[in-house]
Amino acid sequence: MKKLLHIIATPREDESRTLKVSASFLEAFATSHPDWVVETLDLSKEELPALTVKRVDGKYVLLSGKELSGQYRTAWQEIVLQIQRFLSADAYLVSTPMWNFSIPYMLKHYLDVIVQPGYLFRYTGSGTEGLVKNRKMAIVTSRGGEYTTPDSRILDYQEPYLRAIFGFVGIQDIQFAIAQPMDLGEAQQAQRIQEAQLIAGELARRF
Ligand SMILES: Cc1cc2nc3c(=O)[nH]c(=O)nc-3n(C[C@H](O)[C@H](O)[C@H](O)COP(=O)(O)O)c2cc1C
Repeated sequence: MKKLLHIIATPREDESRTLKVSASFLEAFATSHPDWVVETLDLSKEELPALTVKRVDGKYVLLSGKELSGQYRTAWQEIVLQIQRFLSADAYLVSTPMWNFSIPYMLKHYLDVIVQPGYLFRYTGSGTEGLVKNRKMAIVTSRGGEYTTPDSRILDYQEPYLRAIFGFVGIQDIQFAIAQPMDLGEAQQAQRIQEAQLIAGELARRF
């Protein structure tokens, strides 16, 4: 059975505008992909391993091309579990609001945990190679403001960053459903959520 991993990076649960849009994705996905299971990883509830000096040192061991052993191997157990969970999925749905023009810290923490040499990418004679092959990703996001004009777009460090980091690990097929602006009036908010829900549903059906 194939698995969609739903990674949530907002703590707002039922109040979340992002998750309202993701709900439409998941509803359409359940109908169009009845043989898939959906696993939820709620980063606002997950106890991610802190990147202590021992764990960071382990990363440098890997970067030097060596294997982890002894104390590094032990320190890395929780990191490896998170990586295995990420790699166990066949496709991804990421639900994240924009925070300070970028992503919430819990998603950045998650990325700092899982994006590791030898696991998600590796070095080759001609540069780096992403190891997360043949996986699709949908990213649902909402923003308080609107980032569609040339002047406002330069402040959007969220979409370019997410494309860069997931592209770096090998995920090339990334589609966005964006609800914006969310914090400039209720009528507009409701309308933009509805528009993003239609896009999200369409993404799910074509997934
Ligand atoms: C800590 C924090 C930082 C935020 N930073 C931005 C920002 O830089 N730009 C923006 O347009 N909205 C920003 N917002 C507003 C949220 O992106 C917006 O309200 C979004 O719809 C929240 O999504 P959620 O309801 O799914 O949590 C921020 C909200 C919070 C709580």
